[in-house]
Amino acid sequence: ETVDWDPEDAEKGSYDHYMLKEINEQPMALRQTLHGRIDGSDVVLEDFPPGSFEDVSNVQFVACGTSYHAGMYGERLLSDWGINADTFIASEYAAYPAPVDENTLVIGVTQSGETADTLEALQRARDRGARTLALTNVIGSTAARTCDDALFIRAGPEIGVAATKTFSSQVATLVLLGERLVRDVTGEPTEGHEQRLRALEALPENVESVIETTDAEAVSRRCLGDNGHFFIGRGSAFSVALEGALKFKEITYEHAEGFAAGELKHGPLALVTSETPVFAIGTGQHLNRLESNVREIQTRGGPVVAVGPRTASQLAQTADEFLPVPATHPDLVAALANVQLQLIAYHAANEMGRSIDKPRNLAKSVTVE
Ligand code: G6P
Repeated sequence: ETVDWDPEDAEKGSYDHYMLKEINEQPMALRQTLHGRIDGSDVVLEDFPPGSFEDVSNVQFVACGTSYHAGMYGERLLSDWGINADTFIASEYAAYPAPVDENTLVIGVTQSGETADTLEALQRARDRGARTLALTNVIGSTAARTCDDALFIRAGPEIGVAATKTFSSQVATLVLLGERLVRDVTGEPTEGHEQRLRALEALPENVESVIETTDAEAVSRRCLGDNGHFFIGRGSAFSVALEGALKFKEITYEHAEGFAAGELKHGPLALVTSETPVFAIGTGQHLNRLESNVREIQTRGGPVVAVGPRTASQLAQTADEFLPVPATHPDLVAALANVQLQLIAYHAANEMGRSIDKPRNLAKSVTVE
Protein backbone atom coordinates (compact mmCIF):
# COMPACT_ATOMS: atom_id res chain seq x y z
CA GLU A 1 0.00 0.00 0.00
CA THR A 2 1.23 3.45 -0.82
CA VAL A 3 0.54 6.54 1.17
CA ASP A 4 -0.11 9.87 -0.49
CA TRP A 5 2.26 12.07 1.37
CA ASP A 6 2.13 15.76 0.79
CA PRO A 7 5.27 17.41 2.18
CA GLU A 8 3.28 20.59 2.73
CA ASP A 9 0.91 18.77 5.09
CA ALA A 10 3.78 17.72 7.28
CA GLU A 11 4.51 21.33 8.07
CA LYS A 12 0.98 22.28 8.95
CA GLY A 13 1.46 20.83 12.40
CA SER A 14 -1.72 20.86 14.42
CA TYR A 15 -3.44 23.38 12.16
CA ASP A 16 -6.22 22.44 9.74
CA HIS A 17 -5.06 25.08 7.32
CA TYR A 18 -1.93 27.00 6.45
CA MET A 19 -3.98 30.16 6.56
CA LEU A 20 -4.74 29.76 10.27
CA LYS A 21 -1.15 28.74 10.94
CA GLU A 22 0.07 31.85 9.14
CA ILE A 23 -2.42 34.12 10.92
CA ASN A 24 -1.13 32.74 14.20
CA GLU A 25 2.48 33.16 13.09
CA GLN A 26 2.07 36.90 12.68
CA PRO A 27 3.59 37.88 16.03
CA MET A 28 6.69 35.85 15.18
CA ALA A 29 6.80 37.15 11.61
CA LEU A 30 6.52 40.73 12.87
CA ARG A 31 9.33 40.17 15.35
CA GLN A 32 11.52 39.08 12.45
CA THR A 33 10.40 42.06 10.40
CA LEU A 34 11.31 44.51 13.16
CA HIS A 35 14.41 42.73 14.43
CA GLY A 36 17.32 45.17 14.74
CA ARG A 37 15.52 47.86 12.80
CA ILE A 38 14.51 50.14 15.67
CA ASP A 39 17.21 51.71 17.81
CA GLY A 40 15.65 53.95 20.43
CA SER A 41 14.15 56.81 18.47
CA ASP A 42 15.99 55.88 15.29
CA VAL A 43 15.26 53.52 12.42
CA VAL A 44 18.05 51.30 11.13
CA LEU A 45 17.41 49.87 7.67
CA GLU A 46 20.37 47.73 6.65
CA ASP A 47 20.95 48.92 3.05
CA PHE A 48 19.60 52.39 3.69
CA PRO A 49 21.83 54.52 5.92
CA PRO A 50 20.62 58.02 6.80
CA GLY A 51 20.46 60.15 3.67
CA SER A 52 19.57 57.25 1.34
CA PHE A 53 16.32 58.91 0.34
CA GLU A 54 17.24 62.60 0.58
CA ASP A 55 16.59 63.18 -3.13
CA VAL A 56 13.13 61.66 -3.15
CA SER A 57 10.41 64.15 -4.05
CA ASN A 58 7.50 61.73 -4.40
CA VAL A 59 6.62 58.08 -3.93
CA GLN A 60 4.49 55.83 -6.13
CA PHE A 61 3.44 52.40 -4.92
CA VAL A 62 2.69 49.76 -7.55
CA ALA A 63 1.24 46.41 -6.49
CA CYS A 64 -1.52 43.81 -6.90
CA GLY A 65 -4.03 42.18 -4.59
CA THR A 66 -3.19 42.22 -0.91
CA SER A 67 0.11 43.97 -1.59
CA TYR A 68 -1.82 46.79 -3.24
CA HIS A 69 -3.70 47.29 0.01
CA ALA A 70 -0.44 47.34 1.96
CA GLY A 71 0.89 49.96 -0.48
CA MET A 72 -2.23 52.00 0.03
CA TYR A 73 -1.79 51.74 3.81
CA GLY A 74 1.76 53.06 3.37
CA GLU A 75 0.54 55.82 1.09
CA ARG A 76 -2.00 57.05 3.63
CA LEU A 77 0.69 57.27 6.31
CA LEU A 78 3.28 58.92 4.06
CA SER A 79 0.76 61.53 2.90
CA ASP A 80 -0.14 62.23 6.50
CA TRP A 81 3.56 62.76 7.22
CA GLY A 82 3.93 65.26 4.39
CA ILE A 83 5.35 63.04 1.64
CA ASN A 84 3.77 63.16 -1.80
CA ALA A 85 2.58 59.57 -2.33
CA ASP A 86 0.20 57.65 -4.61
CA THR A 87 -0.76 54.00 -5.02
CA PHE A 88 -1.40 52.31 -8.35
CA ILE A 89 -2.75 48.92 -9.38
CA ALA A 90 0.28 47.48 -11.15
CA SER A 91 -1.55 46.29 -14.28
CA GLU A 92 -3.04 49.76 -14.73
CA TYR A 93 0.29 51.45 -14.15
CA ALA A 94 1.99 49.15 -16.66
CA ALA A 95 -0.41 50.34 -19.35
CA TYR A 96 -0.98 53.89 -18.12
CA PRO A 97 2.09 54.90 -16.13
CA ALA A 98 2.04 58.08 -14.07
CA PRO A 99 4.61 60.79 -14.73
CA VAL A 100 7.95 60.26 -12.98
CA ASP A 101 11.38 61.85 -12.85
CA GLU A 102 14.66 60.79 -11.28
CA ASN A 103 13.43 61.95 -7.87
CA THR A 104 10.42 59.68 -7.98
CA LEU A 105 10.74 56.54 -5.87
CA VAL A 106 8.56 53.77 -7.28
CA ILE A 107 8.04 51.05 -4.68
CA GLY A 108 6.90 47.65 -5.94
CA VAL A 109 5.14 45.96 -3.05
CA THR A 110 5.24 42.26 -3.85
CA GLN A 111 5.41 39.40 -1.40
CA SER A 112 6.73 36.93 -3.98
CA GLY A 113 8.72 39.40 -6.02
CA GLU A 114 7.48 37.52 -9.08
CA THR A 115 4.07 38.99 -9.90
CA ALA A 116 4.20 39.75 -13.62
CA ASP A 117 2.02 42.87 -13.47
CA THR A 118 4.14 44.39 -10.71
CA LEU A 119 7.39 43.54 -12.49
CA GLU A 120 6.06 45.17 -15.65
CA ALA A 121 5.00 48.31 -13.79
CA LEU A 122 8.45 48.53 -12.20
CA GLN A 123 10.06 48.07 -15.60
CA ARG A 124 7.99 50.92 -17.03
CA ALA A 125 9.01 53.16 -14.15
CA ARG A 126 12.67 52.27 -14.58
CA ASP A 127 12.55 52.86 -18.34
CA ARG A 128 11.21 56.31 -17.71
CA GLY A 129 13.95 57.22 -15.29
CA ALA A 130 12.45 56.64 -11.84
CA ARG A 131 14.29 55.01 -8.97
CA THR A 132 12.75 51.64 -8.10
CA LEU A 133 12.60 49.74 -4.83
CA ALA A 134 11.30 46.22 -4.27
CA LEU A 135 9.53 45.67 -0.97
CA THR A 136 9.45 41.89 -0.92
CA ASN A 137 9.58 38.72 1.14
CA VAL A 138 11.83 36.81 -1.20
CA ILE A 139 15.58 37.36 -1.39
CA GLY A 140 16.79 36.69 -4.92
CA SER A 141 13.34 37.23 -6.42
CA THR A 142 13.08 38.94 -9.79
CA ALA A 143 11.83 42.17 -8.20
CA ALA A 144 14.68 42.17 -5.69
CA ARG A 145 17.23 41.58 -8.43
CA THR A 146 15.94 44.02 -11.01
CA CYS A 147 15.08 47.04 -8.84
CA ASP A 148 17.64 49.63 -7.84
CA ASP A 149 17.02 48.76 -4.19
CA ALA A 150 15.36 46.00 -2.19
CA LEU A 151 13.93 46.00 1.30
CA PHE A 152 12.87 42.67 2.78
CA ILE A 153 9.81 42.14 4.91
CA ARG A 154 11.21 38.94 6.51
CA ALA A 155 7.82 37.33 7.14
CA GLY A 156 9.02 33.79 6.38
CA PRO A 157 7.43 31.55 3.74
CA GLU A 158 3.71 31.92 3.16
CA ILE A 159 1.87 28.91 1.69
CA GLY A 160 -1.81 29.91 1.89
CA VAL A 161 -2.95 31.59 -1.32
CA ALA A 162 -4.74 34.24 0.73
CA ALA A 163 -1.95 36.48 2.00
CA THR A 164 -2.05 37.17 5.75
CA LYS A 165 1.25 37.45 7.58
CA THR A 166 2.93 39.07 4.59
CA PHE A 167 0.41 41.92 4.70
CA SER A 168 1.20 42.62 8.36
CA SER A 169 4.92 42.50 7.72
CA GLN A 170 4.58 44.73 4.65
CA VAL A 171 2.76 47.33 6.73
CA ALA A 172 5.33 47.20 9.52
CA THR A 173 8.17 47.53 7.00
CA LEU A 174 6.42 50.45 5.32
CA VAL A 175 6.15 52.28 8.64
CA LEU A 176 9.91 51.86 9.13
CA LEU A 177 10.65 52.90 5.56
CA GLY A 178 8.33 55.89 5.91
CA GLU A 179 10.15 57.04 9.00
CA ARG A 180 13.52 56.80 7.21
CA LEU A 181 12.13 58.62 4.17
CA VAL A 182 10.66 61.50 6.14
CA ARG A 183 13.91 61.97 8.05
CA ASP A 184 15.94 61.95 4.86
CA VAL A 185 13.64 64.27 2.96
CA THR A 186 12.83 66.78 5.70
CA GLY A 187 15.80 66.37 8.01
CA GLU A 188 13.38 65.76 10.90
CA PRO A 189 11.69 62.66 12.27
CA THR A 190 7.94 62.38 11.82
CA GLU A 191 5.72 64.08 14.31
CA GLY A 192 4.98 61.65 17.11
CA HIS A 193 7.68 59.25 15.95
CA GLU A 194 8.54 58.21 19.51
CA GLN A 195 5.06 56.93 20.24
CA ARG A 196 4.76 55.36 16.80
CA LEU A 197 8.03 53.47 17.13
CA ARG A 198 7.05 52.24 20.60
CA ALA A 199 3.73 51.12 19.14
CA LEU A 200 5.57 49.36 16.33
CA GLU A 201 7.69 47.51 18.87
CA ALA A 202 4.50 46.50 20.66
CA LEU A 203 2.82 45.35 17.43
CA PRO A 204 3.82 41.66 17.76
CA GLU A 205 2.39 41.40 21.28
CA ASN A 206 -0.69 43.38 20.29
CA VAL A 207 -1.35 40.98 17.41
CA GLU A 208 -0.82 38.14 19.88
CA SER A 209 -3.44 39.61 22.16
CA VAL A 210 -5.94 39.90 19.28
CA ILE A 211 -5.35 36.24 18.39
CA GLU A 212 -5.68 35.11 22.01
CA THR A 213 -8.84 37.06 22.84
CA THR A 214 -10.70 37.24 19.53
CA ASP A 215 -14.39 36.51 19.29
CA ALA A 216 -14.22 36.40 15.48
CA GLU A 217 -15.40 32.80 15.17
CA ALA A 218 -18.67 33.43 17.04
CA VAL A 219 -19.20 36.79 15.33
CA SER A 220 -18.64 35.29 11.87
CA ARG A 221 -21.31 32.68 12.65
CA ARG A 222 -23.82 35.30 13.75
CA CYS A 223 -23.07 37.72 10.94
CA LEU A 224 -23.10 35.81 7.69
CA GLY A 225 -25.04 37.77 5.09
CA ASP A 226 -27.24 36.36 2.37
CA ASN A 227 -26.66 39.26 0.07
CA GLY A 228 -23.10 40.44 0.41
CA HIS A 229 -20.64 41.71 3.00
CA PHE A 230 -19.36 45.26 3.11
CA PHE A 231 -16.31 46.72 4.77
CA ILE A 232 -15.82 50.42 5.45
CA GLY A 233 -13.10 52.61 6.92
CA ARG A 234 -11.16 55.85 6.52
CA GLY A 235 -7.46 56.37 5.80
CA SER A 236 -5.43 53.30 6.72
CA ALA A 237 -8.72 51.65 7.74
CA PHE A 238 -9.98 52.15 4.18
CA SER A 239 -7.08 50.07 2.87
CA VAL A 240 -7.90 47.46 5.51
CA ALA A 241 -11.58 47.58 4.49
CA LEU A 242 -10.50 46.69 0.95
CA GLU A 243 -8.22 43.98 2.28
CA GLY A 244 -10.91 42.57 4.60
CA ALA A 245 -13.28 42.33 1.64
CA LEU A 246 -10.63 40.74 -0.60
CA LYS A 247 -9.81 38.11 2.02
CA PHE A 248 -13.49 37.40 2.53
CA LYS A 249 -14.32 36.99 -1.16
CA GLU A 250 -11.17 34.98 -1.92
CA ILE A 251 -11.88 32.21 0.53
CA THR A 252 -15.66 32.25 1.13
CA TYR A 253 -16.63 32.89 -2.55
CA GLU A 254 -19.28 35.24 -1.19
CA HIS A 255 -19.69 38.75 -2.48
CA ALA A 256 -17.69 41.21 -0.40
CA GLU A 257 -16.74 44.79 -1.11
CA GLY A 258 -14.81 47.51 0.66
CA PHE A 259 -15.73 51.19 0.57
CA ALA A 260 -14.33 54.45 1.88
CA ALA A 261 -16.70 55.11 4.78
CA GLY A 262 -17.48 58.58 3.48
CA GLU A 263 -18.56 57.18 0.10
CA LEU A 264 -21.39 55.11 1.55
CA LYS A 265 -23.92 57.87 1.06
CA HIS A 266 -22.79 58.36 -2.54
CA GLY A 267 -24.08 55.00 -3.74
CA PRO A 268 -23.28 51.86 -1.76
CA LEU A 269 -25.92 52.67 0.86
CA ALA A 270 -28.48 51.60 -1.76
CA LEU A 271 -27.18 48.03 -1.35
CA VAL A 272 -27.61 47.90 2.42
CA THR A 273 -30.39 45.67 3.79
CA SER A 274 -30.76 43.34 6.75
CA GLU A 275 -29.03 40.70 4.59
CA THR A 276 -25.80 42.67 4.18
CA PRO A 277 -23.61 42.80 7.27
CA VAL A 278 -21.21 45.76 7.32
CA PHE A 279 -17.82 45.65 8.99
CA ALA A 280 -16.90 49.16 10.16
CA ILE A 281 -13.22 49.66 10.94
CA GLY A 282 -12.13 52.48 13.25
CA THR A 283 -8.56 53.64 13.84
CA GLY A 284 -9.33 55.87 16.79
CA GLN A 285 -9.39 59.00 14.60
CA HIS A 286 -12.61 60.51 13.20
CA LEU A 287 -14.59 58.00 15.22
CA ASN A 288 -17.70 60.20 15.43
CA ARG A 289 -17.92 60.12 11.65
CA LEU A 290 -17.72 56.35 11.61
CA GLU A 291 -20.38 56.20 14.30
CA SER A 292 -22.74 58.20 12.12
CA ASN A 293 -22.00 55.82 9.23
CA VAL A 294 -22.89 52.95 11.54
CA ARG A 295 -26.23 54.58 12.37
CA GLU A 296 -26.94 55.22 8.67
CA ILE A 297 -26.44 51.52 8.01
CA GLN A 298 -28.54 50.46 10.96
CA THR A 299 -31.39 52.73 9.86
CA ARG A 300 -31.49 50.62 6.66
CA GLY A 301 -31.55 47.45 8.77
CA GLY A 302 -27.94 46.45 8.12
CA PRO A 303 -26.19 44.64 10.97
CA VAL A 304 -22.89 46.30 11.88
CA VAL A 305 -19.77 44.67 13.23
CA ALA A 306 -17.38 47.37 14.43
CA VAL A 307 -13.67 46.65 14.68
CA GLY A 308 -11.64 49.24 16.52
CA PRO A 309 -9.62 50.20 19.57
CA ARG A 310 -10.84 48.73 22.84
CA THR A 311 -11.28 52.29 24.16
CA ALA A 312 -13.82 53.26 21.46
CA SER A 313 -16.74 52.73 23.82
CA GLN A 314 -19.20 54.84 21.83
CA LEU A 315 -18.48 52.86 18.67
CA ALA A 316 -18.76 49.61 20.61
CA GLN A 317 -22.14 50.64 22.02
CA THR A 318 -23.51 51.82 18.70
CA ALA A 319 -22.56 48.74 16.69
CA ASP A 320 -24.39 45.42 16.89
CA GLU A 321 -21.15 43.54 17.47
CA PHE A 322 -17.73 44.80 18.48
CA LEU A 323 -14.36 43.19 17.86
CA PRO A 324 -11.85 45.17 19.94
CA VAL A 325 -8.13 45.52 19.34
CA PRO A 326 -5.50 47.06 21.65
CA ALA A 327 -5.70 50.87 21.69
CA THR A 328 -2.29 51.45 20.17
CA HIS A 329 -1.06 54.36 18.01
CA PRO A 330 -3.83 55.25 15.51
CA ASP A 331 -1.44 54.54 12.60
CA LEU A 332 -1.25 50.89 13.66
CA VAL A 333 -4.81 50.17 14.80
CA ALA A 334 -5.96 49.21 11.31
CA ALA A 335 -3.17 46.63 11.06
CA LEU A 336 -4.59 45.02 14.21
CA ALA A 337 -8.16 45.30 12.95
CA ASN A 338 -6.99 43.48 9.83
CA VAL A 339 -6.10 40.45 11.96
CA GLN A 340 -9.70 40.34 13.24
CA LEU A 341 -10.92 40.47 9.63
CA GLN A 342 -8.53 37.69 8.57
CA LEU A 343 -10.09 35.56 11.28
CA ILE A 344 -13.63 36.55 10.26
CA ALA A 345 -12.90 35.42 6.68
CA TYR A 346 -11.17 32.26 7.86
CA HIS A 347 -13.96 31.13 10.18
CA ALA A 348 -16.70 32.00 7.70
CA ALA A 349 -14.93 30.01 4.96
CA ASN A 350 -14.25 27.14 7.32
CA GLU A 351 -17.90 27.01 8.34
CA MET A 352 -18.81 26.82 4.63
CA GLY A 353 -16.29 24.06 4.03
CA ARG A 354 -14.30 26.02 1.45
CA SER A 355 -10.89 25.12 0.11
CA ILE A 356 -9.22 27.71 2.29
CA ASP A 357 -5.56 27.29 1.38
CA LYS A 358 -6.19 26.86 -2.34
CA PRO A 359 -9.33 28.77 -3.27
CA ARG A 360 -10.83 28.02 -6.65
CA ASN A 361 -9.45 29.94 -9.64
CA LEU A 362 -6.68 31.63 -7.64
CA ALA A 363 -2.90 31.18 -7.53
CA LYS A 364 -0.38 32.18 -4.90
CA SER A 365 1.80 33.86 -7.45
CA VAL A 366 0.50 35.17 -10.76
CA THR A 367 3.39 35.22 -13.21
CA VAL A 368 1.34 36.05 -16.30
CA GLU A 369 0.11 39.50 -17.30
C1 G6P B 1 -1.96 36.79 -6.19
C2 G6P B 1 -2.27 36.24 -4.82
C3 G6P B 1 -2.58 37.36 -3.84
C4 G6P B 1 -1.46 38.38 -3.84
C5 G6P B 1 -1.17 38.89 -5.26
C6 G6P B 1 0.08 39.74 -5.28
O1 G6P B 1 -3.13 37.32 -6.75
O2 G6P B 1 -3.36 35.33 -4.88
O3 G6P B 1 -2.74 36.84 -2.53
O4 G6P B 1 -1.78 39.44 -2.99
O5 G6P B 1 -0.96 37.81 -6.12
O6 G6P B 1 1.17 38.92 -4.94
P1 G6P B 1 2.59 39.48 -4.59
O7 G6P B 1 3.47 38.27 -4.49
O8 G6P B 1 3.01 40.38 -5.71
O9 G6P B 1 2.48 40.21 -3.31
